[in-house]
Amino acid sequence: MRDLSSELLAWYDAHAREMPWRVAPADRKAGVLPDPYAVWMSEVMLQQTTVAAVRDYHRKFLQIWPTVHDLAAADDADVMAAWAGLGYYARARNLLKCARAVVADYDGIFPETYAELLKLPGIGPYTAAAVAAIAFDRRETVVDGNVERVMARLHDIHAPLPGSKAELTARAEELTPQDRPGDYAQAVMDLGATICTPRSPACGICPWREPCAARDAGTAGELPKKTPK
Ligand code: ADE
Repeated sequence: MRDLSSELLAWYDAHAREMPWRVAPADRKAGVLPDPYAVWMSEVMLQQTTVAAVRDYHRKFLQIWPTVHDLAAADDADVMAAWAGLGYYARARNLLKCARAVVADYDGIFPETYAELLKLPGIGPYTAAAVAAIAFDRRETVVDGNVERVMARLHDIHAPLPGSKAELTARAEELTPQDRPGDYAQAVMDLGATICTPRSPACGICPWREPCAARDAGTAGELPKKTPK
């Protein structure tokens, strides 16, 4: 059987996008992990916002509040003002609440497991899995819109979202490797953002072009299907 996750990781080794909060694959292989605080902040900011838009805000937040202790001690109004322009202001309020909980309950040290991360304010299943995988290299499966699209195509799943969410999640889980789960999570998201894009996917240069069932069937551009609202 082919090793799909290894094939994707080999692609990621060569094509990982540079992000200020990211540790490059070569460094991660040497044992370097990113600052959980920086990863958490990036994932909260990225939830409704593009990587391009998040870069400057992330840099600014880390300059003003370099650690979770600094952010926990910040004035609410200063944080809301720094967030201005990113939108979805509930995220900023939750960011502060979460920073204060990490300081109050964990001495400023982010917990490493999905279950403990999930208990923190503003951290839902997506963010808990992303922080556990990316910051701590725990085998957790990150499922966002990119991952759903990649799984729907790889397996040519025509059942519409949101009903198909459980199946797409199960497919994503079974592909998550024991080794390098943090890089793997970022690799699937990068693949969805750069190659397996919603319209006109670049199947010709995709590392999964051969095993991709939708490419084989000619349906990649139609997937994932969505139940009309
Ligand atoms: N989108 C949200 N989080 C991401 C990440 N860590 N890597 C790539 N794309 C993302």
